[in-house]
Amino acid sequence: MVDINMDTAVANLEKKGFLDIDVSPELDLFKEIEVLKKEKNAIILAHYYQEADIQDVADYLGDSLGLAQQAAGTKADLILFAGVHFMAETAKILNPQKKVVLPDLKAGCSLADSAPGFLFKAFKEKHPDHIVISYINCSAEVKALSDIICTSSNAEKIVESVPRDQPIIFAPDRNLGAYLIKKTGRDMLLWDGACMVHEIFSLEKITKLKIRHPKAKLIAHPECEEPILRIADFIGSTTGLLKYTQRDDAQEYIVATEAGILHQMELASPQKTFIPAPPNNSCACNDCPHMKLNTLEKLYLCLKYEKPELIMDETLMKAARKPIDRMLEISAQYGL
Ligand code: 13P
Ligand code: SF4
Repeated sequence: MVDINMDTAVANLEKKGFLDIDVSPELDLFKEIEVLKKEKNAIILAHYYQEADIQDVADYLGDSLGLAQQAAGTKADLILFAGVHFMAETAKILNPQKKVVLPDLKAGCSLADSAPGFLFKAFKEKHPDHIVISYINCSAEVKALSDIICTSSNAEKIVESVPRDQPIIFAPDRNLGAYLIKKTGRDMLLWDGACMVHEIFSLEKITKLKIRHPKAKLIAHPECEEPILRIADFIGSTTGLLKYTQRDDAQEYIVATEAGILHQMELASPQKTFIPAPPNNSCACNDCPHMKLNTLEKLYLCLKYEKPELIMDETLMKAARKPIDRMLEISAQYGL
């Protein structure tokens, strides 16, 4: 029977972005989630920036490319995406017939928000001879205006797949774009967007930390600014960073990306020390406020009631799918 708490929660869903229902602290959420997953033939896809409990209940945990590939190949009837909105959108675009739910509809992304579709359209129209490569951290509207999507783990190969005399617009991350220009020697036109989490690392504090930990290696995500990337020992996507810490023989790492990834690094290499890179503020936290809107309670409610559901316009999904498929094809060609 639907109780009053449920009716109110559904009525408030749009305003709040999630199902606000009390969950008994006595409930073993890990067990309940396992039961619900089987009952509904559901898959939980989660990004490394989710809180540790969510990572622990995920069927697949990965970077943006891995998550898109899993979404493209899943046989599940229900996809629960524990990540941010653009990631769930990508899963829905790849599975228009399936139900895609996410624990909190308001889990956005500062980088995706830095490129509103209508402004990006006007920008693109000013450069009709350019093709558009967009980082997956963008809205479905921007994807629909793009020729190829990329992620941090395939961006170099995607840029190199375009003929050298073909002018390119790269959007929306100016830091990843600048890094790719340096790596590939291609002179791309960059959209001026950035991620609030990766732009906040303090070069001064990291330099001091390196002096205090002379054997520690600095590993960084390419969304970081150039001065941080310049002094990094290794640059890669979240999966790239995790794999590097597993194969490399250093014992200490300063990690310049969102701190959620430390959970997997510590699980994979319990004997090693991982230090979150210090940000340029007083709170010393590298959490993405969007990613961290998701909690285990919200995830449980989302799986149980299959809400909030991501609903998207069919025409938009069709247009946004082409550049995602192109990315998946090129990635497969390179065995990525
Ligand atoms: P990757 O996990 O693909 O490296 O992306 C990081 C990120 O910022 C996701 O929002
Ligand atoms: Fe967006 Fe940055 Fe958060 Fe990733 S870490 S979801 S790029 S705001």
